[in-house]
Amino acid sequence: MDHGRSPDRGTRGGPTMRTVVRGGRIVTASQDYHADLLIEDGTIATIGRLDDVVADRVIDATGRLVLPGAVDPHTHLDAPLKGTITADDFESGTIAAAVGGTTTIIDFPLQQPGEDPRVSQEAWHDRARGKAVVDWSFHQIITDLPDEYLPALDSLVADGIPSFKLFMAYPGARMVDDGTILRAMRRAAENGGFTMMHAENGLAIQVLEQVARAKGILGPIANAISRPSPTEGEATARAYMLAELAGVPVYVVHMVAAEAVAAVRAARDRGVAAYAETCPHYLLLTEERLNEPDFGGAKYVMCPPLRSKEDQEALWRGLQNGDLQVVSTDHTPFRFADQKVMGKDDFAKIPNGVPGIEWRVGLLYHHGVRAGRLTLNRFVELISTNPAKLFGLYPRKGEIAIGSDADLLLFDPDREVLLTAEHQLTRCDYNPYEGWTIQGATDTVLLRGEVIVEGGRFVGHTGQGMFLPRGASMPVG
Ligand code: URP
Ligand code: ZN
Ligand code: ZN
Repeated sequence: MDHGRSPDRGTRGGPTMRTVVRGGRIVTASQDYHADLLIEDGTIATIGRLDDVVADRVIDATGRLVLPGAVDPHTHLDAPLKGTITADDFESGTIAAAVGGTTTIIDFPLQQPGEDPRVSQEAWHDRARGKAVVDWSFHQIITDLPDEYLPALDSLVADGIPSFKLFMAYPGARMVDDGTILRAMRRAAENGGFTMMHAENGLAIQVLEQVARAKGILGPIANAISRPSPTEGEATARAYMLAELAGVPVYVVHMVAAEAVAAVRAARDRGVAAYAETCPHYLLLTEERLNEPDFGGAKYVMCPPLRSKEDQEALWRGLQNGDLQVVSTDHTPFRFADQKVMGKDDFAKIPNGVPGIEWRVGLLYHHGVRAGRLTLNRFVELISTNPAKLFGLYPRKGEIAIGSDADLLLFDPDREVLLTAEHQLTRCDYNPYEGWTIQGATDTVLLRGEVIVEGGRFVGHTGQGMFLPRGASMPVG
């Protein structure tokens, strides 16, 4: 398959381009030290005191944290959902990502039932190619798995797409039954693949949606009422049990319920390769948002729904003690004005999801590191190193080491930023954190040695991201 990739590393030709990043504090998942970096042709060539090195470009990193570019393994750009398309395409979404410090995203081609899943890979390449400004890769959503498609899973792994996502929710749309899940998991166990799960009990939720409707509850709050935490906890525990049965790693996406955190902990205690991510909105917002007047609650409709302070505490503890390994965004932006309002008369028709790609790093720094909940090393691990390891990109991504791609985030830990829709880059027309001030912001971002963000502003160019075929998942603690 030719996906119109940018030239591979080191094959650009011409004279070697040398950049020095001088005077910064380098923080990785395991280290924290002051040093200079020499970048040659897009990769890190030397780390140390480099006072005498002659370079084409010198970047002053004094007062900055120098972090590996962040990796967001859960985005939905240019993605169809409930009869509409997410508000960011691969250009606007990745520009927002870059300014937020993210240099790699992994998005989700959606298999159409009755179609070989590889067809959707091609369709998603058409969406990303020539547009993405950061590097990108794809998972594969599986919605239909007759025997004839099983070999497609093997060839996806061989082509660098080793992660398959399945849905236990959304009956009549993406949901698959437990038999299909087990068959996909068994195949992934054989071919070295990795499975991801949207873990909510779709049929139980369908009953509870009918109950809400029968009571005349039709507004956004029904999102929370019809999807209470046991519907997530039950499905999460089942996902880990099925993965245990199949002998395959499984990664539960967008975890929020305390019951689900208990399930991942129990599975890990049994020795299952059980992983989980959560997202900033679940750590920072609660279900009261669904009551915002004038249908404003629709901005916060998502699946699973926002929950309680107690659930948030369970998530923070899980991030601290290693039960949860990643903070992603599940960036699913829908404009309020013409998309969220599609569900004005019926909560089930509200396109579900929130934007987040632009603020993940800053929010987690402010509310995690500054608030004393996370160490700097753990913060880097959660936003960059662990997703790179789990999704087969390490040590090319998620690390600052000789030979790694020079994807660097020069982060200003002191700069204050006001979050507001007025100044955001995502094409969503609202900001879930409107009016919040956070301390800590992107200053400069390098993608394979090229400066794409300077002084917090995007200075790269459309289409400079490249597709990343991925390798096998590495276990993380
Ligand atoms: O409500 C959400 N999370 N929307 C995005 C689609 C998904 O299930 O990840
Ligand atoms: Zn989901
Ligand atoms: Zn998602």
